[in-house]
Amino acid sequence: MVDIHCHILPGFDDGSDSIETSLQMAEMAIADGVTHIVGTPHANSEYDFLPELVRARRDELQSRLGERVSILSGCDFHLSFENVNTLRSDPRRFTLNQGEYLLVEFADFSIPASLDQTLHELQLLGLHPIITHPERNPLIRSQWDRLWGWLRQGCYVQVTAQSITGGFGRRAKQAAELLLDANAVHFVASDAHNVTTRPLRLKAAFDAVTESRGEKVARALFESNPRAAVESGALEYVPEPGDWKKTQEDMELDSSPPRKRFWFF
Ligand SMILES: [Fe+2]
Repeated sequence: MVDIHCHILPGFDDGSDSIETSLQMAEMAIADGVTHIVGTPHANSEYDFLPELVRARRDELQSRLGERVSILSGCDFHLSFENVNTLRSDPRRFTLNQGEYLLVEFADFSIPASLDQTLHELQLLGLHPIITHPERNPLIRSQWDRLWGWLRQGCYVQVTAQSITGGFGRRAKQAAELLLDANAVHFVASDAHNVTTRPLRLKAAFDAVTESRGEKVARALFESNPRAAVESGALEYVPEPGDWKKTQEDMELDSSPPRKRFWFF
């Protein structure tokens, strides 16, 4: 399997905090049947993205692991005004394995209408945006029409393995199932951060998808599509998205908007 979203590179963000943790994460991945891991540190208001240092730490981790698994580099790209500005002058600074595919993460609290245009602009720059874990985003979960619009626009969708196995709670699991049932998933990745709460494991989710959707789909989502993305090739598996409303009705899901949260200081 090929993991296109993972915080395995040490010392950049809330992912691995040391080379030892990174090595343990890599061992977990190898034991799970992963052959390629893309280290994708965050680029957001909290964490600066430093491509040269990212590649230096990738090199160091690779040299410690030898040929047992391939470590590549990319970025967990937050779709902010500042990031898009930087990307315009050097698009491949942020892409998976410095190729054509870009992980794109939205904020949990606001997804302005202008982002449709921003995604289009990324495509005009020759990039293929991959929307990361929409199943975990309460805003997207309450307005699937937005996601379906991006799919029609030619964007792809990555679901987190741990959402499929229930690690992010009932709503994320149901949303992941809805997306799978509605043919709206192109990649499954670990988005691993450590060896405990956010481990680098894909096999359990692979087995769950094999059971629910068949082995052909599982192989596409965990192997051939992610491999194509790191090689900047065309995806083998891009099904026509189904009708999310119908899928939601069939699954008898609760489609109520997220509850308002109150914060006390
Ligand atoms: Fe991430």
